Amino acid sequence: MGHSISKLAGHRIQSSPKIQKMIAELVAAVGEEEKSLESVRGPQAEAIDHGKQVFEEVGKYRGRPLNYQYLGTGAGHGAYVEVEDGSIKMDLINGIGVHIFGHSHPKMREAAVRGALSDVVMQGNLGPHHEYLELSKMLVEHASKKSRLKYVWFSTCGSMAGENALKMARQKNTPAKLVIAMQNAFAGRSTMMAELTDNPAYKEGLPSYHEVLRIPWFDSSNPRSSEDSLRKFKEIVAANPKQVATFCFEPMLGEGGYRTAPREFFVPILEFCREQKIAVWCDEVQTFMRTGELFAFETLEIGEYVDLCTIAKTLQTGATLYTEEYNPKAGLVAGTFSGSSASLAAGMAALKMMTEEGYLGKSGHVQKVHDSFVGMMNRLNETTCKGQLREAGGMGLMVAATPLDGSKDKVNKLLQVLYKNGMIAFSCGRDPYRLRFLLPAIMNTKDVELAGKILETSILEMMQ
Ligand SMILES: Cc1ncc(COP(=O)(O)O)c(C=O)c1O
Repeated sequence: MGHSISKLAGHRIQSSPKIQKMIAELVAAVGEEEKSLESVRGPQAEAIDHGKQVFEEVGKYRGRPLNYQYLGTGAGHGAYVEVEDGSIKMDLINGIGVHIFGHSHPKMREAAVRGALSDVVMQGNLGPHHEYLELSKMLVEHASKKSRLKYVWFSTCGSMAGENALKMARQKNTPAKLVIAMQNAFAGRSTMMAELTDNPAYKEGLPSYHEVLRIPWFDSSNPRSSEDSLRKFKEIVAANPKQVATFCFEPMLGEGGYRTAPREFFVPILEFCREQKIAVWCDEVQTFMRTGELFAFETLEIGEYVDLCTIAKTLQTGATLYTEEYNPKAGLVAGTFSGSSASLAAGMAALKMMTEEGYLGKSGHVQKVHDSFVGMMNRLNETTCKGQLREAGGMGLMVAATPLDGSKDKVNKLLQVLYKNGMIAFSCGRDPYRLRFLLPAIMNTKDVELAGKILETSILEMMQ
């Protein structure tokens, strides 16, 4: 036998100082090559034909063309990513919020390589490895500081984390099966999460199971908004006694339009849930790590009410956090995969950076990025863009503005113009459609200035 038992816990091969040093050198060497990718540029003559061909090929194999002429080369740097046609784009959507530390962050890459040197590619709930334990421990330790959440169960995406949360709520509160959700909610793409989602375009041709009832989101123009939503909530419960298993909500409406709500909006509803023993399920798939605290329930100071919390995206895998009461019976949740060894290791690196490197808190870097980006959009709106970039706001690294006339057509055109001019953004909401950003936490002043220039040029181009 080649190596001794001392290679086990605490002396793992891939964490040994020698291997760590080799990984750091490897990552530094790759990173060195990418340093030139520090600003935007258009497609390069020698790569245009190749780009066109591979973009078309993606469409050919998936039966639907790409939204953007985008296929990453695998190289990037901070807020910038290189595309197969030789262009470099400023990426302000980050795979819909996955790459929170931007592209090629050395610590994320080092962790991923370390994980990739594990003996297995994928980890699962039946055969977990040390990354599974370490990440579980980190998550539960952080979550339990300001809530009663005590356990975590991994899955590979936000939708599956949601399915597990719903099963936990229904099992504990059986035979109650109904869900109360927000108008304009988004919960994912599985059959049940599509049912929970309030957007007909995302479930065309699917049957309705009539298991979700809705209350209105906070409306800042209505002084009685909180009372109205609570009243609707109570009406639903009164009409369906002992039938409501859970209240599912995003701490900030994501896909539904990047709309925020104050603590005072949530608390009376959450108090009522507590009284009625309805599970409070906070869907943090989009908000996790992005609001200036690790969890948005901390930012909103509502952690004491939360029974179930789903996270994914920035974690690099999916997970459901739950309290003692909602710990399901054996057999209810399982699933082959809990994430790849690389993604679990990278999730830990992200958590560590977010909590230890000055990102959190009222004067942390997340809030600084928010303030400077929103400030930049407000300035453009008041000056050159002449009211065509309205209502800039959001929470932390999730920011949006309503551009032009807020119509689907104009916003989609603007997104293509932005892309041509070097920026990847996306939309959210309906009537109005909004321009949406999931900003990387590593954005600096220079990046925000460049983003402002691209935005200004693109809005003016649309106004011509
Ligand atoms: C609030 C929310 N819940 C759930 C999901 C679904 O996550 P996933 O796409 O990883 O399945 C998303 C994805 O955007 C989301 O924003």
